[in-house]
Amino acid sequence: AMIGKGGHRHFMAKEIFEQPQVIGDTLNAMFNPTRRSITLPDLPFDLAAVPRITMIACGTASLAGLVGKYWLERFAGVAVDWDLASEFRYRAPVMAEGGLAIFISQSGETADTLAALRYCKQHGQHCLGIVNAPESTIAREADAVLPTLAGPEIGVASTKAFTTQLVVLACLTIALARARGVMDRETEARLSGAMTEVPSRAAEVLNHDGRIRAIAEDAFVPARDVLYLGRGTSYPLALEGALKLKEISYIHAEGYAAGEMKHGPIALIDEHVPVVVIAPSDPLFEKTASNVQEVVARGGKAVVFSDAEGVKRLRDLALDAVALPAVDPFVAPILYALPVQLLAYHTAVAKGTDVDQPRNLAKAVTVE
Ligand code: G6P
Repeated sequence: AMIGKGGHRHFMAKEIFEQPQVIGDTLNAMFNPTRRSITLPDLPFDLAAVPRITMIACGTASLAGLVGKYWLERFAGVAVDWDLASEFRYRAPVMAEGGLAIFISQSGETADTLAALRYCKQHGQHCLGIVNAPESTIAREADAVLPTLAGPEIGVASTKAFTTQLVVLACLTIALARARGVMDRETEARLSGAMTEVPSRAAEVLNHDGRIRAIAEDAFVPARDVLYLGRGTSYPLALEGALKLKEISYIHAEGYAAGEMKHGPIALIDEHVPVVVIAPSDPLFEKTASNVQEVVARGGKAVVFSDAEGVKRLRDLALDAVALPAVDPFVAPILYALPVQLLAYHTAVAKGTDVDQPRNLAKAVTVE
C-alpha cells in the first residue's frame, strides 16, 4: 500500500509525530497492566543463564544499543560489550560460550550487522534480533526476535525506529533483571509504570515543536559546527542528536560525553558554536550543570534540554532552555530523543535540504 505523509511536509515529520503511538504499541506487546510487569515472548534459550551480552548494530540503532548497555549493566547487573558491526566483524572478538548477542536493526538488512550475526552464530552465541522489518534477513536468521512495532519508516534518518528500539531494550532490561533475581517486584512495577507514561509525555514533548523550530532557525541554521553533550544515558542521546543534525542539515556536529569535553572539544568553544546539553534531572545533573558553566565561561551558547527543575537551575546561564516533562530517569533517554530529532528536522527544513533523502545516505546499507 502507498504510505502517505499524513498531512506533514516530510515523512520524517510524520514519523517523529507518530512516536507517542508506536512507543505505546511496542510497549503494550510486552507490558501486563494488571500485574504491572513485563513479559517477553518465549525465547529458545535461558535468558537468566547468559554470562555476558554483546550488543551490535550500525548507525542510529547502535546508539539505541549503547543506551541498552547502560540500562542492562545498571539494572540487570550483566556485563555488556558494545560494538559497531563494521568493527566487530573484522576484529577477533572474544565471547563467552553461551553468551547472548543482540543485533539491533530497523531494516534487518544492514550488511555489516548481518555478517556479525553469522559470526556470532558460528561462535556459540544465542542471537537475538531487535528488528523493525519482520520479514527481513536478520529477523529470519536470528534465534529469536523482539519486534519494534514502529511501522514502515521511510525517512532515511531514523526516528521512530530508534525510540521503539529503546522501548524493547528497556523491557529486555526489566525482564532480564527479574529473571536473574536482581530486581524486586516493586522496582519492576515502578520502572514499567514509568514506561507506560512515556506515550503521553512524548506527546507533551511534541508540543514544544514551535519553540524548537525557533531555536533551530535562530541559532542552528547559521552554525558551522555544533556540539552535543550528555552524561550517562544522555551520552548516547548526545551522539544521536549530533548524528541526526549532520545527516540531514549537513552541519558538522559532534556528540561528546560531557565529562570528556575538557579533553578536547572545549578548545572549539566560542560564540559561534552552539552547544546542546541533554540534562534531565538525575543523579548526574549537577556534573553536567558544571560543564554548562564551563561552556558559558568560554563564550559558548548553551541550549539546554531538561525538566522544569533543571531549567530553573540553568536558565540564566543558557541561551535557551526547554523544560520537558519530569520523568523517572530510567525512561528519560526515550523522551529526550524527540527534541533532538525536532532540532535537526527544523534546521534542515530551514536550510532547504532534502530532509527525507539526504545526499549520499541510504535507508539500508546492504552492501559494505
Ligand atoms: C543507515 C540509515 C540509518 C540507520 C543505519 C542502520 O545508515 O541511514 O538511519 O540507523 O543505516 O540501519 P538499520 O536498518 O540496520 O537500523
